[in-house]
Amino acid sequence: MLRDGGLVAFPTETVYGLGADALHEAAVRRVFLAKGRPADNPLIVHLASAADLGAVASSVPPLAARLAGAFWPGALTLVLDAGPRVPAVVRGGLATVAARVPDHPVALALLDAAQTPVAAPSANSSGRPSPTTAGHVVDDLDGAVDIVLDGGPCALGVESTVVDARGSAPLVLRDGAVTREALEAVAGGATSWADHAAAPPSPGVRYRHYRPRCRVVIAPAGQGAAVAAARAAATPGGRPSAGDGRVGLVGTEAPPPGVVEIARYHDAAELARLLYGALRAAEEAAVDVVVVEGVADEGIGRAVMDRLRRAAG
Ligand code: TXA
Ligand code: MG
Repeated sequence: MLRDGGLVAFPTETVYGLGADALHEAAVRRVFLAKGRPADNPLIVHLASAADLGAVASSVPPLAARLAGAFWPGALTLVLDAGPRVPAVVRGGLATVAARVPDHPVALALLDAAQTPVAAPSANSSGRPSPTTAGHVVDDLDGAVDIVLDGGPCALGVESTVVDARGSAPLVLRDGAVTREALEAVAGGATSWADHAAAPPSPGVRYRHYRPRCRVVIAPAGQGAAVAAARAAATPGGRPSAGDGRVGLVGTEAPPPGVVEIARYHDAAELARLLYGALRAAEEAAVDVVVVEGVADEGIGRAVMDRLRRAAG
């Protein structure tokens, strides 16, 4: 299907991807159409192995080789100067290409069988929460995708960390499932665009994202704050900013009376795993507001809070 220019959704360890042959321009254009994705937001190219990096990047500097050696297969995407074979449509017109080797047996089997690099954004409609089950993919893209490979729920639940690996230190363009702490352990100081750049160099970070069809309110971590926020939101006139209506809770404690339990988690890794599904479940429960108890901005929690802040607008 990929070689014929079709679209194949597949599971990875992070989220489901919507794949097309990265060297097939018309197929890649279909990916943008299916998602309603802006043409200037480039796609990640998925490779069967690190040995294939030279097929899409014009050179592999020492830092990139070190990061690939340490984290692939895995949830780290490397941005490098693009080689001549990668069509401009994949790169969103940039001179760079983003690539990773996913850590999932179904994804690796697909890449191995396809014998071509596979360009794949997350398999959601643009702006929606990313898909962590095959059902989420079908909900967003039924009719626009030719095959959906069902590999069950994704193990990590947030997308890969996107890193510019062209310099002497990794520059984090998007936080993700590989933590800053893990990057620092391998490459010394990891820096983020947010620490020193006025405009984010990763186009996707500019766009509205991860929005469910209900309002998302972030509550502080721990000690009943989320329960109190949910109770206040559910009390008519109790909290004007939350509005009146049905309220759902994603947190570490049981919801108060009158509040719908959407999901319960124990730690940041579990929230990462279930967050996108919970945002979709909140829609299905027809709540007007979902209160989500936050986690500390460290480790995997950094990526989770980034997604949550964007979901909350
Ligand atoms: O875990 C993941 O990364 C998943 C799975 C399917 O691999 N994919 C994913 O793709 O999250 P997507 O398209 O939803 O997000 C890709 C991000 C976007 O923010 C995009 O702007 C950025 O990577 N990106 C892609 N190519 C880039 C480049 N050449 N330079 C800078 N950022 C780039
Ligand atoms: Mg995405």
